[in-house]
Amino acid sequence: MSDIAYLDAAARTPIGLDYKRFSIDALDIRPQQTVLDLDCGPGTDLGRLTATGAVVTGMDADETMIREARRRYPEVEIVAGDAHDLPFGDGTFDRLRTDRVLQHVADPGRVMAEIRRVLRPDGLMVTAEPDWDTLTVADADEETSRAFCRFNAGRVRNHSMGRHLKRLAYAAGFEVRAVTPIPVAFEDFGVADTILGLSRNARLAVAEGVLEKEKAEEWLARLAREPFLGSFLFYVVTASRP
Ligand SMILES: C[S@@+](CC[C@H](N)C(=O)[O-])C[C@H]1O[C@@H](n2cnc3c(N)ncnc32)[C@H](O)[C@@H]1O
Repeated sequence: MSDIAYLDAAARTPIGLDYKRFSIDALDIRPQQTVLDLDCGPGTDLGRLTATGAVVTGMDADETMIREARRRYPEVEIVAGDAHDLPFGDGTFDRLRTDRVLQHVADPGRVMAEIRRVLRPDGLMVTAEPDWDTLTVADADEETSRAFCRFNAGRVRNHSMGRHLKRLAYAAGFEVRAVTPIPVAFEDFGVADTILGLSRNARLAVAEGVLEKEKAEEWLARLAREPFLGSFLFYVVTASRP
């Protein structure tokens, strides 16, 4: 599955639809305001953002994402740029959102400081990130589940980013208005397999000697056969620039 297909699939899940709606509502966008979708990806949320009547700019660091976002939304300005060094002047935007980029960046504190810089006074930021350290998968073999979840989290650079958003926002000079932890539960093995990469990452964990092959195969077979439940916490933080 390509990165674009993955992002589209994640955005179509009920929880993807819910938290995205929530995080866009939290931006409290008024028509004509300037809004930056800082990690717009293939344009996942540009339709919903432009529907508010705002003047929306998308930005991403990845050329493939930018090409797709421009193809989907030719009317929106899509800029290539790095979140650590935003290609915009001070105080350019009324509203800014990020959605699962801070978990990947080299220096989240610097990105937060850049977000503050490009927002106008009284501007609002809404940022949404998972906390992969909270992932649990229900199975009789708890040892394999725990080892898998730790391995899975360890594959993401800033795997517990969700819980750090409030701290980072204050450190950058924001006033945090709301911290909303959202419990995410997958009850369908197929959906969880796509979004959490159960089979793919279990294979990698075996290859890296973290899981025993036989145990991992039995674990996956049981998860696919039995009633499934996997869950983790996702955080949405709303903050204003004084
Ligand atoms: C998990 S995707 C989320 C995309 C989109 N927000 C969505 O919800 O579908 C993270 C995005 O951040 C972009 N990205 C990663 N590092 C970046 C950086 N340093 N600056 C800007 N964008 C970055 C990736 O190219 C990718 O499109």
